[in-house]
Amino acid sequence: MKNNKNIIIFDTTLRDGEQSPGACMSIKAKMKIATLLDEAKVDVIEAGFPVISQGQFEGVQSVAKQVKNASVCALARALDKDIEIAGQALAQAKRPRIHTFLGISSTHRKHKLNLTTEEVFAMIASSVSKARNITDDVQWAAEDALRSEHDVLCKSVETAIKNGAKTINIADTVGYAFPHEISDVVELLLNKVPGMDDINISIHCHNDLGLAVANSLAAIQAGVSQVECTMNGIGERAGNASLEEIVMALKTRQDLGMPVSSFNTCYLTKLSRLVSESIDFPVQYNKAIVGRNAFLHESGIHQDGVLKHANTYEIMCREDIGLNQSNIFLGIHSGRKGLKHKLDFLGIDLEQGDLDKLLKPFKALAEENKEITDAMLVALVDKIKKS
Ligand code: KIV
Ligand code: ZN
Repeated sequence: MKNNKNIIIFDTTLRDGEQSPGACMSIKAKMKIATLLDEAKVDVIEAGFPVISQGQFEGVQSVAKQVKNASVCALARALDKDIEIAGQALAQAKRPRIHTFLGISSTHRKHKLNLTTEEVFAMIASSVSKARNITDDVQWAAEDALRSEHDVLCKSVETAIKNGAKTINIADTVGYAFPHEISDVVELLLNKVPGMDDINISIHCHNDLGLAVANSLAAIQAGVSQVECTMNGIGERAGNASLEEIVMALKTRQDLGMPVSSFNTCYLTKLSRLVSESIDFPVQYNKAIVGRNAFLHESGIHQDGVLKHANTYEIMCREDIGLNQSNIFLGIHSGRKGLKHKLDFLGIDLEQGDLDKLLKPFKALAEENKEITDAMLVALVDKIKKS
């Protein structure tokens, strides 16, 4: 395993994330998200795909102007026009990066591009050197790398490096790979491609089989130095690897020798809500890290446990993701301890007798409702006090 002290977090919420069917972000929303990501110390923000529309161009341009610390990246196919326009959109970025890509699997070569392998290598060479004439920071992506023949992948990567790419992005474009295959490919590249040791190796995983985060973590363990991800895991089809899951997995499992990231996880809750509101996509209740239920406990046994010691049923601190709310969810499975805790949290001081009186109507209300909200509880307490 290559010894990574620090992993580069490459956020593509504004590019691959915006490619989620039905997600469309205004330029204002993109700027807000980029500003918050920058404050959270993300390393790279992929701001869009400038050649595809005027709106995309202006989105990248605005983010490039606004962002203070992170590198700002723009996507481009292996075409001169794409690369030139990406360079123009990034003109005002403090740290501009061009990300150019080409499909290299036989499926892409035959059915999408109609190119021979020799033609693919030639296009990689010309696109990477074209981008290098615009910026020193060029990232080349092997699209559909995990379904590519190993010799074609190695030769493609070698060609990109020879022509000046500083970052090589290994894309599991269709979310096809299993974790051990990702590790094998990273090891193959590290062992077979000359000059790979000095290159920033990136992993870009999609979630078609629900493996994007597991695959990204396998790549990190195998030695990549950059991971690509999106807030809330949005992206093409079933989405990309989720940023919040990756950074919290790294933080939580330092015992496994995982690299650290500079990302300030306290921004996760705020970022997740901002992204969700910007595209009008709800976050599923049981979504890891940022779902409504991720730090909530309903059953009496669990509530008793976490109230005695959070570590009984929690492996992360909710404050670490910037969540400042009670972890007790009142429902039919809750008991006296959870109820008392919630009352304390709401600043309601009840005599023991009143608490006893509250328990029965509380259970009855919980039978009828899936959740007892704070407002419902306050109303119930008022009723009990008046009775
Ligand atoms: O999934 C993919 O292959 C991509 C590339 C453009 C990196 O998003
Ligand atoms: Zn992608």
